[in-house]
Amino acid sequence: MKVLVTGGLGFIGSHTVVELQNKGFNVVIIDDLSNSSEKVLDGIVAITGVKPAFEKIDLKEKSKVEDFFARHTDVQGVIHFAASKAVGESVEKPLLYYENNIGTLVYLLKELSKKDKASFIFSSSCTVYGQADKMPITEDAPVKTAESPYGNTKQMGEEIIADTCKVVPSLNAIALRYFNPMGAHPSTEIGELPIGVPQNLVPFITQTGIGMREQLSVFGGDYPTSDGTCVRDYIHVVDLAKAHVIALERLLEHKNDANYEVFNLGTGTGSTVLEAIQSFERVSGKKLNYEIVDRRPGDITSAYASTEKANKILGWKAESTLDEAMKSAWEWEQKIRN
Ligand code: UD1
Repeated sequence: MKVLVTGGLGFIGSHTVVELQNKGFNVVIIDDLSNSSEKVLDGIVAITGVKPAFEKIDLKEKSKVEDFFARHTDVQGVIHFAASKAVGESVEKPLLYYENNIGTLVYLLKELSKKDKASFIFSSSCTVYGQADKMPITEDAPVKTAESPYGNTKQMGEEIIADTCKVVPSLNAIALRYFNPMGAHPSTEIGELPIGVPQNLVPFITQTGIGMREQLSVFGGDYPTSDGTCVRDYIHVVDLAKAHVIALERLLEHKNDANYEVFNLGTGTGSTVLEAIQSFERVSGKKLNYEIVDRRPGDITSAYASTEKANKILGWKAESTLDEAMKSAWEWEQKIRN
């Protein structure tokens, strides 16, 4: 069965390609290499023994998208990761984000709408909930006004898919709302490759641990949480990748209850920033140099997932603990720096 993975050389995309190939899917990757490297293919081959097909295409080029689907009429499923994801950059360059994340989604949906049957998995984010009123966050929690153009592209993306599914019954879609993905494949053949100074906590922790950064700034120590730092739900990227395969199989096997569904992907456990640091110190045996500084504008206090829906309906549950995920992130950091 042929599956297109857009952004398949990126962090979550590459881990998902591995899990798809482990299950025998025939994968074709589209990636524009704007935030990834063709070398990731070698890592995928090292793990699975199979080289996925790869086409360097910028999905903003509509004619290339049309041409791709004309050549690959046997694509039955699409997992769409390709998107820009830096929150700060999205504030500076909103149109770039709307063009990259919305324009490309529209082109893909147009092509899929032409098919007799199509299955579509969308990378969404817990950012759509903003600061939810209740924890853990269930899928029916209200979507709040986005804090950034990036967050807005995830909300709008979900709406565009839902609207399209209403009028295209042959299209079946699932939006997966990720909490905080982290870690790397246990083989250390693939992992996260942040370009420049990492904005996300875990790569900043491991880069500080290895000596690339002098100190981690902990953004805010006066939040109303157990230790004053923000709470997030950190999920191992391999667990997350497996959920994509299960969601796709649900659509391909017509097990879905509606032609548009939404699931949270998290562990259900909230961890503070200081707990994440302690986890790093446990698994690395190193002390981390950090300092509590001012809050980062736009940060929410707390977000962790209700895992009930994904567990009950998809039959999926995150298996790794924070320490296991942190250990994999640390092993990956050591490998890429050596
Ligand atoms: C961020 C984005 C979110 C996006 C997600 C994708 C913001 C406000 N939110 O989520 O929209 O979907 O990334 O990965 O950017 N922290 C530090 N020091 C650091 C970095 C982070 O203390 O150097 C803290 C943050 O304040 C936060 C936690 O670590 O409490 C996690 O931060 P981060 O990894 O950036 O993820 P989110 O903010 O949850």
